[in-house]
Amino acid sequence: MPDLAINDLRLRLGDHEILKGLSLKVPAGAVVALLGPSGSGKTTLLRAIAGLEVPHAGSIAIGDRVFFDAARKIDLPAEQRGLGLVFQSYALWPHRTVFDNVAYGLKLRNTPAAEIKTRVGKTLSQIGLGALAERYPHQLSGGQQQRVAIARALVYQPPLLLLDEPLSNLDAKLREEARAWLRTLIGELGISAIHVTHDQTEAMAIADRIVLLDAGTVAQEGVPTALYNEPENLFTAEFMGSNNRLEGVLVDAADGRATFDIYGERITGQARAPKAAGAQATGIIRIESVRCTEEPGPNRLRMQFKTQMYLGERWELVFSTGDLTVRTYAHSPVSPGKHFIEFPPDALWVF
Ligand SMILES: Nc1ncnc2c1ncn2[C@@H]1O[C@H](COP(=O)(O)OP(=O)(O)OP(=O)(O)O)[C@@H](O)[C@H]1O
Ligand SMILES: [Mg+2]
Repeated sequence: MPDLAINDLRLRLGDHEILKGLSLKVPAGAVVALLGPSGSGKTTLLRAIAGLEVPHAGSIAIGDRVFFDAARKIDLPAEQRGLGLVFQSYALWPHRTVFDNVAYGLKLRNTPAAEIKTRVGKTLSQIGLGALAERYPHQLSGGQQQRVAIARALVYQPPLLLLDEPLSNLDAKLREEARAWLRTLIGELGISAIHVTHDQTEAMAIADRIVLLDAGTVAQEGVPTALYNEPENLFTAEFMGSNNRLEGVLVDAADGRATFDIYGERITGQARAPKAAGAQATGIIRIESVRCTEEPGPNRLRMQFKTQMYLGERWELVFSTGDLTVRTYAHSPVSPGKHFIEFPPDALWVF
């Protein structure tokens, strides 16, 4: 499949512009995770690509096949786009067997019975459900039902699979297994996929690239490590990972460094936005980057121990001073009282 290219897409629902000039590319054979908070437009974008919503500006094309182009008044109907769409609720027909659930769309398209049998059989065995073809949905586990929903989209042999939170109905353990399975399957089939999720760990695990949406625009797009390690803006820095947030006034900003005054201590980080001394700024640091120490030192704040939680492989510790609360991890519990909390300057981003 050639690349999917979306250019400056704008879409209104009711009185609101939901997609506000959105552009992105899905390279051939890639899995792209569409990530973003609730209401940011993920489902709307997927529906627009599938042909279920009509944008008022912009274009959508796979190579030279134009699906939608507002300027040229092209709007290919959903069935001619031939994309596989998997909804969050599996939407299986309860009174049809697994085989018939998967075969239904082909029957609607008047595919000959022999071909239906071959294609459904092949798809079911590809996704490991070959033995369950005669069962009904209520006789399947949640994970198996989710596979049937995916089989139903794959049976058309789509060049692009559109998945709207396909794993969110599964419990945490099953979800982790399913994402490894899904990632492998997409690779084996050699197709492209857009996988919508609001779970950033799932997005990083499953995708070659991530597109992070913020209120109908792209906040940042790139490989998972870039979004996690090199956020370009405050929204991306806060959305990815688990973070501490420090607010303060800049006392110094030069040579890519920015220094805050926080409760009388100088705390320095990497300057991530062009701001001058005297400006209000926000510091973001991942929980795993903060250290609990016992001596004073550069970039450390003396903070009061509040509580600690055992997480199995580590402890999560909570400290505070004034109205600042900071969380960190440690291999062993710490004693109550005051500790010196260090914010390594290279891991603190100042916006
Ligand atoms: N039919 C509609 N009419 C008007 N507004 C709508 C309609 N459908 C959705 N919206 C609004 O569009 C925005 C984007 O919705 P969308 O379903 O695309 O978000 P999402 O990113 O998929 O969120 P979630 O993670 O909760 O599924 C929301 O503010 C929603 O309220
Ligand atoms: Mg949605």
